Amino acid sequence: MGRINRWLGMIALVIYLPWGQSPQAASPSITEMKDINISHRGASGHAPEHTFPSYELGMALNGDYIEIDLQMTRDGELIALHDETIDRTTGKKGLVKDLTLEEIKRLDAGSWFNEAFPDKAKTEFKGLQIPTLREVLDQFGSDSKLFIETKSPDVYPGMEDKLLDVLNEYQLIGAGSEADNVIIQSFSAESLRKIHAMNESIPLIQLLSYYAPATITDSEIKKLKEYAVGVGLHFTAANPAYIKRISDSGLLIFPYTVNEKEDMEMLLDWGVNGMFTNYPDRLDEVIRGRIEKRMIHS
Ligand code: G3P
Ligand code: CA
Repeated sequence: MGRINRWLGMIALVIYLPWGQSPQAASPSITEMKDINISHRGASGHAPEHTFPSYELGMALNGDYIEIDLQMTRDGELIALHDETIDRTTGKKGLVKDLTLEEIKRLDAGSWFNEAFPDKAKTEFKGLQIPTLREVLDQFGSDSKLFIETKSPDVYPGMEDKLLDVLNEYQLIGAGSEADNVIIQSFSAESLRKIHAMNESIPLIQLLSYYAPATITDSEIKKLKEYAVGVGLHFTAANPAYIKRISDSGLLIFPYTVNEKEDMEMLLDWGVNGMFTNYPDRLDEVIRGRIEKRMIHS
């Protein structure tokens, strides 16, 4: 749920509720994150993933964060794309690492969506470009918070240095920036440790792959806490014992990619701090409903 809308909702509830039952304000601090709505690849259930319309919708539908996957072109530009290849989302074939930015910019990253989802197709999706990280920051950096993933960092040596250089240039990290403006996540512990060594104030999320149900040991948690503030895992591997263990250790937990309201409710009941979804509008409705219920019953 977007922060401004959440506050408006809270104010409305305070007015509605009997005097003296004012709701608790949500703390913006990293360690107290609650009900965080992360638009996965933007609102990618409604528009082609990792395009401006998808990110715009993520914000309009009350996502708190836009999630961005990073790949790097042959000439060293960070771009927002999930796959190492261009095959799935552009109708062409090739590895991003073999293509220049100019070649990437000639691709159509929207038409595949119209073909795959005719009921959601829009003419304006046709011909959409793959955005660079800089373009994303120009457009959204000051209005939305970003959850950035270093993808395949072993394929792109130096991507972490480039990422931090760009984030510093846009003053999204470092002195004077908000602590939770940018969160960086990766399946690669090595990539996250590199980032932590360069700037230990950036909140880092370790993405983990599990065969369900997920379990974790004290020593694994101890290692994670050397550099990360939390973990992400596929929601089907999440379970109450795991979530409690992670939360009790002081780490945050963000399951991905949760698109059905019943699953969202279940995970929030189990105590996650937020989640990734292709449908931030659905998660927003769930969160609003729960806040309203809490207010009415308090
Ligand atoms: O960051 C959470 C989630 O995005 C990880 O999976 O494959 O969608 O990047 P993937
Ligand atoms: Ca991702």
